[in-house]
Amino acid sequence: MPMITRNDLCWCGSGKKWKKCHYPQMPSQSQNALARQYHKQYGILLKSPEQIEKIRIACQVTAKILDALCRHAKAGITTLELDELSRKLHQEYHAIPAPLGYGEPPFPKTICTSLNEVICHGIPDERPLQDGDILNIDVSSIVDGFFGDCSRMVAIGKISPDKQKVIDVSLECLTRAIAICRPGAFIWQIGQTIEDYATEHGCSVVNQFVGHGVGIAFHEPPEVPHHYNQLGIEMAPGMTFTIEPMINAGVREGWIDETDHWTVRTKDGQPSAQWEHTLCITEKGCDILTVLK
Ligand code: MF3
Ligand code: CO
Repeated sequence: MPMITRNDLCWCGSGKKWKKCHYPQMPSQSQNALARQYHKQYGILLKSPEQIEKIRIACQVTAKILDALCRHAKAGITTLELDELSRKLHQEYHAIPAPLGYGEPPFPKTICTSLNEVICHGIPDERPLQDGDILNIDVSSIVDGFFGDCSRMVAIGKISPDKQKVIDVSLECLTRAIAICRPGAFIWQIGQTIEDYATEHGCSVVNQFVGHGVGIAFHEPPEVPHHYNQLGIEMAPGMTFTIEPMINAGVREGWIDETDHWTVRTKDGQPSAQWEHTLCITEKGCDILTVLK
């Protein structure tokens, strides 16, 4: 009797290869063991393929809304108008904006809009965008119970060289950090990659706020610092998390606004920039879930 091999058609008559059908699922057994270990040891949820597909859908909706808002951000438009457009787009996509009502005090709007010296968590308001502004728009959406999170910078008209520099350096930090993400890489390597690049280019890295696990909840373990750290957690297939480096032209420290309790501004008033993606660790590397497909 010839032995059935992995690439033969399955004995069950499905027409699929044996390895894709009734082949004994050793990898998924060990995957389950790893998932149990990550949950017990770190509180990290390694997602199943089914969960990843749902998170991917949420991330694509999030990225589409962000893209539309960025195209709308022009001189004369207020960030409140961007928030109104965000509400409308969330409705159209049957999505829920995760920031609205989040935290304490409850975040009052559907997106974060962080202008110039604002590091993060800026609240949309009535100030019209002006020539020379740089703006971060941060969109986090819930679709069918799953979360996506991403942000980008927009330059309004002609901007100063120091603003252009923080925009470029923060994007390159994110790109380089994504490039090291694969199974077996350590979480600390993200901070190492980002802080090395930012400081080589005369910028500082915010350490008061971090990236985060995301997908089943808005903020899940692990924390993903963008600064030097020693988090010896190995990336593993099914991990979904954000990288969202906040890079400052001057000092790294920020102040939280005492009246709204959200807006974070640089201590020295110099510009800050941020880009964010949601990633999924795959068998071989990582998928950027919030890149528009
Ligand atoms: N990407 C940001 C984060 O993960 C979004 C903040 S929304 C807010 O924290 F509601 F928390 F402000
Ligand atoms: Co985030």
